[in-house]
Amino acid sequence: MRKIILIAYLVSFLQNIGVAQSILPANQPALIPFPAKWAPAPGINQLHSEKDINWIQDSSIVNPEGYRLQIRPEKVVVYYREPAGAFYAKQTLQQLKNTDGSLPCLDIEDAPRFPYRGMHLDVARHFFPVEFIKEYIDLLAMHKMNYFHWHLTEDQGWRIEIKKYPRLQEVSAWRKETLVGHYSDQPHQFDGQLYGGYYTQEEIREVVQYARERFVTIIPEIEMPGHAQALLAAYPELSCHGQPVEVATEWGVFENVLCPTEETFTFMENVLLEVMDLFPGPYIHIGGDECPKIQWKESAFCQELMKKEGLKDENELQSYFIRRIDRFLTEHGRKLVGWDEILEGGLSPNATVLSWRGMQGGIDAAQGGHDVIMAPTSHCYFDYYQSKHPNEPLAIGGYLPLEKVYAFEPVPETLSQEEAMHILGAQGNVWTEYIPTTEQVEYMAFPRALALAEVLWSPLSKRDFLSFQNRLAQYLPKLDIHYADHLFDIRYELDGAALLLSNRMGLPMWVQAGGQSPALYTQPIPILTDTRIQAWRAAADGEPIGRLLDLDFHTHAAFGKRVTWTTPPHPNYQLGGTQALTNGILGNKNRYGDGEWLGWWGSDVELEVDLQEPQSIQNLQLRFFQSQGQWIYLPREVELFYSDDGIQFQSVAREAMPSTAESVLSFGLTFPETKARYWKMVITRFGKIPDGAQGAGNEAWIFLDEWILAP
Ligand code: ACM
Repeated sequence: MRKIILIAYLVSFLQNIGVAQSILPANQPALIPFPAKWAPAPGINQLHSEKDINWIQDSSIVNPEGYRLQIRPEKVVVYYREPAGAFYAKQTLQQLKNTDGSLPCLDIEDAPRFPYRGMHLDVARHFFPVEFIKEYIDLLAMHKMNYFHWHLTEDQGWRIEIKKYPRLQEVSAWRKETLVGHYSDQPHQFDGQLYGGYYTQEEIREVVQYARERFVTIIPEIEMPGHAQALLAAYPELSCHGQPVEVATEWGVFENVLCPTEETFTFMENVLLEVMDLFPGPYIHIGGDECPKIQWKESAFCQELMKKEGLKDENELQSYFIRRIDRFLTEHGRKLVGWDEILEGGLSPNATVLSWRGMQGGIDAAQGGHDVIMAPTSHCYFDYYQSKHPNEPLAIGGYLPLEKVYAFEPVPETLSQEEAMHILGAQGNVWTEYIPTTEQVEYMAFPRALALAEVLWSPLSKRDFLSFQNRLAQYLPKLDIHYADHLFDIRYELDGAALLLSNRMGLPMWVQAGGQSPALYTQPIPILTDTRIQAWRAAADGEPIGRLLDLDFHTHAAFGKRVTWTTPPHPNYQLGGTQALTNGILGNKNRYGDGEWLGWWGSDVELEVDLQEPQSIQNLQLRFFQSQGQWIYLPREVELFYSDDGIQFQSVAREAMPSTAESVLSFGLTFPETKARYWKMVITRFGKIPDGAQGAGNEAWIFLDEWILAP
């Protein structure tokens, strides 16, 4: 599956608030976006109406989106160059306003760091009403974001009215049912409910106008040549095999793709003519990601076309496809945007690259002189889990907490100054396979979108996560949406066999260990036996607030002991570090991005543990995660070794892995009792994913959560 995380290539919002810590007392309203410069002036302004603001056009302001703001006891003055700057000044005033309508006196000089500050929304996997799209645009604009990437077509649904092709509305906009639960749950189950809908052209014009009034440009995305199964359900003659297909009812990457025939180009160009008529902005996104080439390989037409056009492989054929569409859009005065796969087989001359499988696509494109928007899975995929808490609602996978978004740097160090000018900015992606409701969109996008807004607006030198959190804690309750409130969650780590607790806000925490009475947490808690620890943060009156932390410790001979790895896990899946393997906490059965699971990709796993003194061991227990749809397979076999000196190891047990349909395999191995201090384990990887499976031909992943050694 796409973005499946696993694919191995795999903030000025508060901008106004960055300096707030030193300037605003704690009870000041939090502002969200952070001016480049601001200085306090004494006093308070009682702003009674917008008429009390003087708006002064000032062409000396360099950045067209920039503005200056002076708040004095007797007046408010806004200097702006372009209307967008005036609009952003207004958002800042709104954020500055106290509940009684007063404003703190200050001077602000503000402008964005990046010209592209965006959010994406997939309305195809799940469909959201026009009213919500407007609300989403409002939320973007309030936080000084200026692009909305509207992902309108997919395998699972076509959501834009195209008058020339009515079957897109009648057929492609509807799927007969939808997958229930996670793709990795087996067997797949479906809800049996017809699902779908689309935006009429009238509705789209209304949304475009609404966005324009808020200085938000919409980039429509019409996916080609892959992710087109819904289209093919209505017009099967545009595939290479011409066979009937259904609008997809489950998630993934599908082999039914557009065939690069003249008929297809005519069709897509006609679609794009209507799209361009609806969306006046400079950019048209044509997808280009995750296009399996199997049907092109099997098609005599494609093979003939490749010969005729001198294309050496199917990647070049995809590049030929994109180049033709690029030429068409360029002729019509528009710019093509595509996901970074459009680099494969040669990048089309006028293309802007949206780099999602990491930063490399963006780096290559910028070095080739192309404009780039960054949206790497590592920092910009807001469909990933945002908390390790076991009660998180079902998500696609991954783990992208707020602080990681806030730490995002869109400009890679490797670029020269000139190349770096091609990094227009970044966007957050909200894919909606596991996001069926508008409330859930809000929950997944906020506050991570606010962190990104601050990254994209504020100067790097003003970024300060502590300050951001403090501003956020005051600001979030004012946002009338279903945001994720994880600021107060308790975090844990193990230092040897001692449990350390903390929370971002430094609030008092209460702990209940085993059956004992609750006590205020003051120092690390030694874990001596199997035990359950619950912890919560407390309000001033001692009442629990926020989510409960609930940990079940399983102690064993290697518990709290230091593990070293010869083969490190993949950087995206080593969050818990080596200690995750011996911290006595088992990984979540439903997700591998929880910090307990470690993931290896394309290598065997080789680990050593030092038990500090010789211990008698006769049992090995391991847990492996399995989700073949996400490229995660059980390994082939496990071999265990022991040593007295940590140098010479001898094999003591070796066994092939049994198979299971479960998402977690608990693997146990008993062997003759052996006393030793040093232990080593080699886990042989599955290898390449077989044909016909998701990710065929790629290396499979191994996910392991705990290395249990027992007497
Ligand atoms: C993507 O996530 N397939 C762009």
